[in-house]
Amino acid sequence: MGERITLSVIKADIGGWVGHSSVHPRLLEKAEECLSQSKDLVDFHVTHVGDDLNLIMTHRLGTDNEKIHKLAFDTFLECTKIAKEMKLYGAGQDLLSDAFSGNVKGMGPGVAEMEFEERPSEPVIVFMADKTEPGAWNFPLYKMFADPFNTIGLVIDPKMHDGFVFEVIDLIENKKILFSLPEEMYDMLVFVGAPGRFCIKSVYDKKGNIAATSSTQKLNFLAGKYVGKDDPVCIVRCQSGLPAVGEVLEPFANPHLVSGWMRGSHSGPLMPVSVDQSNPTRFDGPPRVVALGFQLAQGKLIGPQDFFADPAYDKARATANKIANYMRRLGPFEPHRLNLDEMEYTTMPLVMEKLKERFVPVDEEEDEAAAAKEE
Ligand code: F6R
Ligand code: MG
Ligand code: MG
Repeated sequence: MGERITLSVIKADIGGWVGHSSVHPRLLEKAEECLSQSKDLVDFHVTHVGDDLNLIMTHRLGTDNEKIHKLAFDTFLECTKIAKEMKLYGAGQDLLSDAFSGNVKGMGPGVAEMEFEERPSEPVIVFMADKTEPGAWNFPLYKMFADPFNTIGLVIDPKMHDGFVFEVIDLIENKKILFSLPEEMYDMLVFVGAPGRFCIKSVYDKKGNIAATSSTQKLNFLAGKYVGKDDPVCIVRCQSGLPAVGEVLEPFANPHLVSGWMRGSHSGPLMPVSVDQSNPTRFDGPPRVVALGFQLAQGKLIGPQDFFADPAYDKARATANKIANYMRRLGPFEPHRLNLDEMEYTTMPLVMEKLKERFVPVDEEEDEAAAAKEE
């Protein structure tokens, strides 16, 4: 068996070009330059989805490593300087502080990392989404690793037949729990069907090997304040006892509804796209997902293969646009607009304050009406 390798994907929105739509090429170049100077990385790939800059890195230092997190953080700081110079939109927005404290988690950037022994052949897919939240991975991860109608390997591959173990995080209580599937499928679905609160963080095979991990973390309520949707990333290992590449990509053929889109306050379809197509437009969306595939070779990232550039996903995009049309027609009404607890923006307290004198108890109003009638 091969050596242990760590795959770290760290992302941040440090300035949009134009608005919240894309990353300027100068930022991508700067990030490449910063990472190429590191002696700690085995390899890296710099890319973007919409307005999020993504650093895909391999190294031998394990997860949560201070050096790697600092490298990512410093890279984002350098890029922020350029973003500020060009007055890009929201320059530095995901760097909640410019003082690094040992780990980028909780500082704004999103992180998905896994350490594993590189197999004789190691295909991985890095998923990156814009204009949505970490719970967006619940549906596809469930389909990939637990749904036999998606993943036939669960039925006919003896190496997958035992199922998988899912780690689920409660974002509100900041607790986690393991579910063993298929035995506990119904129990798990009670939770992960509510992706605004319960997120699938990781998936393991039944021997304990990591198979998938996402950037889910307790971020939404940073410093007691709701800081909005955190455009998520997710890493999935494929083949040889894990879902095949095609089984991992399959859930995205039927775009599911996710929370995010305009002002992080709407429900819309997650549209699978190539990197080049990943810049949100309509109503700042629809939310998008990119899938980059790599073969790892002694930690080298052989790739990427931009999977959703394929015409096999044209129909999924057409479906997503059809759903987007339908949802948009609902305008400010739920369920297109998210419910009050989930919205990133709301004027409710302001409007409520303005109208508070005019709100009277319903019964009182009835009494007044009855009194008026008597007179
Ligand atoms: C959603 C998103 C955008 C912005 C919107 C308003 O995640 O990033 O839809 O919320 O463009 O942005 P501001 O308030 O910065 O003008
Ligand atoms: Mg942005
Ligand atoms: Mg974004």
